[in-house]
Amino acid sequence: MLKKSVEDALNKQLNAEMYSSYLYLAMSAYMESVTMKGFAKWLRIQAKEELAHAMKFYDYIIEAGGRVRLTAIEAPKTPWKSAGAVFDQVLAHEQKVTGLINGIMDIAVKEKDYATQNFLGWFVKEQVEEEANASEIVAKISIIGDVPGHLFCLDQELGKRE
Ligand code: FEO
Repeated sequence: MLKKSVEDALNKQLNAEMYSSYLYLAMSAYMESVTMKGFAKWLRIQAKEELAHAMKFYDYIIEAGGRVRLTAIEAPKTPWKSAGAVFDQVLAHEQKVTGLINGIMDIAVKEKDYATQNFLGWFVKEQVEEEANASEIVAKISIIGDVPGHLFCLDQELGKRE
């Protein structure tokens, strides 16, 4: 049985992962609108991954004997001014999510909830990868130049994501 503080934190993160999905889908739609199909595809796949993250929280809350509480998902603020602005925000957002995951881990440690600590371990590892992926794209955009004409090759590269 989950303690109330842990259950609340997990439900809050379920919402945060849903928001991440919504944010990346909005970013994908923006990249579609400026005909950068590769960026759009990468972000759309990322949105799908975030939905899978949300479902991991959903399933775990139920499995651990808690109750899922779905709340309103905030609307992403759109549009963006460039691909660079989009990916600066992706990186900042992932850094924020890492902080959120660490915060839930702190609660689980305080409550001596070892099962939840174990569950969160996957996300701790995942966040290292998420931040690294976003950092790499931010660095590439900064080297190439945040101009659509210059980003053609990167757009092609990101479009190869499966
Ligand atoms: Fe669900 Fe991108 O972290």
